[in-house]
Amino acid sequence: MILSIESSCDDSSIAVTEIDTYKLLWHKKISQETEHSRYGGVVPELASRLHAVALPKLLEETKPYFPEIKAVAVTNRPGLGVTLMEGIAMAKSLAAFLDIPVIPVHHLKGHIYSLFIEKATRFPMLVVLLSGGHTMVVRVEDFDTMEILATTMDDSVGESFDKCAKMMGLGYPGGPIIEALAKEGDENRFELPVPLRNAKEIAFSLSGLKNAVRLSIASLGGAERMSHQEKCNLAASFQKTVALHLLQKCKKLFVREPIEDVALVGGVAANAYLRSRFDALCSETGKRLHTVPLRFCADNAAMIGRYAIDAYERKAFVSPSELDMETTRKLRPDTLL
Ligand code: KG4
Ligand code: ZN
Repeated sequence: MILSIESSCDDSSIAVTEIDTYKLLWHKKISQETEHSRYGGVVPELASRLHAVALPKLLEETKPYFPEIKAVAVTNRPGLGVTLMEGIAMAKSLAAFLDIPVIPVHHLKGHIYSLFIEKATRFPMLVVLLSGGHTMVVRVEDFDTMEILATTMDDSVGESFDKCAKMMGLGYPGGPIIEALAKEGDENRFELPVPLRNAKEIAFSLSGLKNAVRLSIASLGGAERMSHQEKCNLAASFQKTVALHLLQKCKKLFVREPIEDVALVGGVAANAYLRSRFDALCSETGKRLHTVPLRFCADNAAMIGRYAIDAYERKAFVSPSELDMETTRKLRPDTLL
């Protein structure tokens, strides 16, 4: 079995996965959303202190599995330095105590492997990764070969949902709140600019759209003066524009790339509206869409454990003293290093 730990942002999570069968034997997550919501975003120092309380609580429950654990996997990059440290420190001491190796896991590869939780891998795959920290399309050939085909020039999609919600005084995380309001709204009420609509390059940009949302709020006299219905309309218009932008750029890639299997992963992939729009795009471009069960879209240790199985089989592990943290939030543009 592999015990995996995730603490790259505001979710403390631990999982135990069986190596031979991929079976998820144990998995729990303690989210810090309530604690961060009054600040409208994640406060790293607070997140770190909450991990220091939550992770040992979770670990305590996994004790019965300790005799069977062959390696400890942990997210070591990218993420918030002070929160990654909590998981890494725990992984190092646990591995040293059990005298087993540590598997360092790249968080985004974890999201990609969320597709294969309790399943065999399926490659090649064109993966659209939409999270709070990243927005990219990755061509995944196999475990070692992953190439970033397009990425964001500024904000990530999740971040833009969060900021949009914050500007309307709606709380954190913004994604689920915006999605819920959008269901009651008129998506054509606000005319927002589709980012990079006339640009040839295949890239994403969300900061201009965020600014357009800010100006719309200002034109209505500020968030305090907006009615509930106006907030729903703006949420729906924003979500529609995000979808138009993502779909316009992804369509070019889907047409260009011969790979038939396409996947949507990351926290934002829980959005039902975006899922249905991608579903339609895949039908139009002759692709097969793969999605992740809702509970594994946002950060979790199950995906870290699933990636770790493939890493373990390749002996891609280190001794506890060799494990380091890498907080390269902005990754190299062409590869997932
Ligand atoms: O993957 P994730 O849990 O963390 C990172 O690795 O960043 O993604 C978190 C992001 C947040 O920005 C959150 O607002 C967004 O995912 N999110 C959503 C939805 N659920 C979560 N965005 C849009 N619609 C949703 N239903
Ligand atoms: Zn994530």
